[in-house]
Formats: sequence, C-alpha cells, structure tokens
Amino acid sequence: MYDNNPTIPDLNKPLEESKQGEVFFKDQPVVNEDGKKFYIESYGCQMNFSDSEIVASILAESGFAPTRIMEESDLILINTCSIREKAEQRVRQRLREFDKIKKEKPGTLVGVLGCMAERLKTKFLEEEKLVDMVVGPDAYRDLPKLVAEAEGGQKGVNVFLSREETYAEISPLRLSSNGVSGFISIMRGCDNMCSFCVVPYTRGRERSRNLFSIIAEATELLENGFKEVTLLGQNVDSYKWENPETKEVVNFANLLEAVAKVSPEMRVRFSTSHPKDITDEVIHTIAAYENICNYIHLPVQSGNSRVLKLMNRTYDADWYRERVESIYRIIPDCAISSDIIAGFCTETEEEHRESVEMVKWAKFTYSYTFYYSERPGTLAARKYEDDIPLKVKKRRLQEIVDMQREVSYEQNQKDLGKTYKVLIEGNSKKSKDQFKGRNSQNKMIVFSKKGDCKPGDYVMVKVNEITSATLKGEIVS
Ligand code: SAH
Ligand code: SF4
Ligand code: F3S
Repeated sequence: MYDNNPTIPDLNKPLEESKQGEVFFKDQPVVNEDGKKFYIESYGCQMNFSDSEIVASILAESGFAPTRIMEESDLILINTCSIREKAEQRVRQRLREFDKIKKEKPGTLVGVLGCMAERLKTKFLEEEKLVDMVVGPDAYRDLPKLVAEAEGGQKGVNVFLSREETYAEISPLRLSSNGVSGFISIMRGCDNMCSFCVVPYTRGRERSRNLFSIIAEATELLENGFKEVTLLGQNVDSYKWENPETKEVVNFANLLEAVAKVSPEMRVRFSTSHPKDITDEVIHTIAAYENICNYIHLPVQSGNSRVLKLMNRTYDADWYRERVESIYRIIPDCAISSDIIAGFCTETEEEHRESVEMVKWAKFTYSYTFYYSERPGTLAARKYEDDIPLKVKKRRLQEIVDMQREVSYEQNQKDLGKTYKVLIEGNSKKSKDQFKGRNSQNKMIVFSKKGDCKPGDYVMVKVNEITSATLKGEIVS
C-alpha cells in the first residue's frame, strides 16, 4: 500500500513502503527467556505501529517475550490496515505465508489485529481458516485472555469498540524505535465522516487521552534518551480533554504547549491536522516554541470544492487556501505536506487539474498520493458510483506525483546554502560514514560524520546538494 510514494521517509505520516510490515524488536531484550514468544508485524498508519507497541507491552506483562524470528514464535500477530483494498490484499498474502509456518510447527497461533479485524469481524474466521484470533483496536487489553482461549482450541474474538479506551496508563514497549524519536497516541477513533474513509468504522468514536498521561509518557521518553515525540491522532486539532478536578478544558494548542514545555531539548511533532479544525491558536503555539517543529501535515484530498463536498470534508478549496495562507503568514518557514486522492467518484479532468494546481499553489514539500479505492460500507460506496476507470485514476495520480516532484525540487533548491538545526537519527542508508537526520521542516538531510557526534545530538548542517527527494550537507558546527 501507499502504493506510489517512493521517496522521503516521513515520521509524521504513513510509513514508507519499505517499512510496511516491518518486524519490530531491533535490539529488544528478551523479557522472558524460557516462556512463550510472540512475533508482530504491522501495516498501515503510525497509529497502528504505535498500537503494536501497546500490544507488545500487554503481552510482555503476561509473560510473552518478543521475537523478531517468526519461525521461533508461539504466537504470530499481524496488525492490519483497511484503508485501501491493496492494503487488505497484502495482509491476506501474508496470512498464506504464515500458514506454511503453522504446518511446519503445529500449535503456532495466528492473530489478526487492527482495522481489518474490526472491519471483517468473525467473517475473518470463515474466510481465513488458519486465523485463531480476531482482535479489534479497542480490545487489546483482552489479548492475554483471548490467547488462552485460542490455546485451548477455541477461536478468540473481541471486536468491541469502546467510547473510552485510550490505553492511557499503558507504557508502550518501544519496538521499532531508533531510540531518538517516539510516538505518543493522544486520541483514538474519528468522528469525521469523510465519505471515502473506512477509519470511523474500524476505529470507532473519537476520544482524547488524559493530558497527564501524555505528559508522563513524553517525560518517560525524555528520561530514556529520546529527543523527539510525535503526537498521533486522526484529527489532532479536535483533541479535547476535560480535567475532571478543575473542569478546565484542554485543547490541542494547550496540549502542544504542555508537551513542548517538557524539555526545550525535545522536539515535538504531530499528525494529522485537519484543515477544517486547525486554528490560528495552534499555529501561533507552533510559532511560539522553538522545539515545536515547523511542519504541518494538512491533507487537502482534492483541490476542487465540488469533489471536497462529495468527500464530505466539510471545507472547500478557498477555506483550505485561507488556512495555508495563515500558516505561511504566522510561520514563514513552515513546511506543509498533504494527502491527495486521485479519481474520486465523478471527478472530471478539470477538477483533477485543480488538485494538481493545489500542489503548486500550496507549495507542498511532499504529498502522499493515492488513487481512490472504494471501501465497503463507506458513505461513498453507498451513495456514489466508483466510475473513474483504473487507467484514468492511475494517470491522474501520476500527474499529481509529477507535479509534486517538480514542486519538491523547487523547494529543495531554496534550501541550498542554508544551515539547519538537524536532529541526528542514525546512519544513512547508503553509508556508515554518513548520518541522516531531519530539520524542523521534516526534511531528511544526509551528511558526513564529524567529531564525536552521535544519534540524538543536534548539529548545524549546511545544505550543499539536493535532489527532489533528499538534501545533502555538511556539519558546520
Ligand atoms: N485522518 C487523516 C487520514 C488518515 S487515512 C486525515 O483526515 O487526513 C490516510 C490517507 O489515506 C487519507 O488522507 C486519504 O488521502 C487516504 N485514503 C483514505 N481512504 C482512502 C480510499 N478509500 N481510497 C484512497 N485513499 C484513501
Ligand atoms: Fe478518515 Fe476523514 Fe477521519 Fe481522516 S478525518 S480518518 S480521512 S474520516
Ligand atoms: Fe490506520 Fe489503516 Fe486503520 S490507515 S487507522 S491502520 S485503516
């Protein structure tokens, strides 16, 4: 899935293609050497990856040790995504592969977690006989019990969606982390009803997590050497939590400020912002704190107002443009990225051109682009015909991608000669002699190692070479 996005890895958005299905536990100590072991693979958005860390924590508590080696596990878990049809196909293909292991090692249990589990519920057990457990995103506390049931030969199912569950006090087991950057879920579910989207059905109602538990988690990350947190939610701007004692209502701007104050040394990122909900107060808060990164992922979905209406995004193109103007006015060096869907129901060529134009107008540094994939049960599936031929969808998608590449290149060119504060994340993919890290605008910069700097350090890097996808530079102090 995320079919067509070859380039910049981005902490604030769906993980890159290469990371989909990535196995966790890079250097994870084995919690319980003699006990049972579990293996977990994740697909989809960062919320899912973050959930896998909660699942790992719950299983570790009940005596399961994590393993990266599927063949030696007693329990294979796959945390699934339903956002597009391709994402589901990929999971089914993985299940075929798990089947082989089950045959070689009878007794191995297979559990399907996440959005696809929620969408298909017990139907999964009929369709995929090898699955022993089906567990929805709000039922992870029940996992130890469901595993026990499955061990006893019963199928374990819990797809109950909660109005309250936020896993607030569970300390996630940081699995795939580079030790520098960590995710914190600040809310769950979604109350928007974008007509194309399956998330409200798979994740349930929106609910915000207790502010103090978020601050505690950020503090714990800081104490463990982390230097960056990314606050996650489907629509972070509608974060709203009422302190039961003082009755004070905390909004997203207040939350951002509170997290920024944990330490000036810790960068704060967040995703996803919704154009209808992002306020000037939020933008001013970003501007006010050096450690809140100047980067906003603000998915437009379409550049045309009629299509936006059909999508039920509840803003039009002018509204979107006004929000972008406010961002650039208040934070002149802010980077904005987007999600765009090509070939939504009834989209005309002219309307599609408006999406292409929006990329240019808004100067997105990056766009995650998808062609429309009808999802069963959504408003669009019920109301509109999926009438744009696949070939046309793909061509339109390519036109958006091409425009984005041009715009990214132009933007990167402006970075030539500039010096940025970069947080070192680790070795670059290509060479052990080079580090990679991001600037505040979330652009990845690759540069040669110098002195004794190490991952987690901030360094000043001057950009001296660019492509449409990456910046290269050198440490200047
Ligand atoms: N909450 C986020 C989006 C989460 S889903 C937001 O509102 O922006 C990530 C992206 O997947 C969406 O922004 C959208 O661009 C894309 N997407 C969602 N449903 C889709 C579908 N049915 N077909 C194609 N792309 C889809
Ligand atoms: Fe889906 Fe819209 Fe909610 Fe995003 S805001 S998760 S696109 S329903
Ligand atoms: Fe995320 Fe996919 Fe679910 S994008 S919320 S894992 S449908």
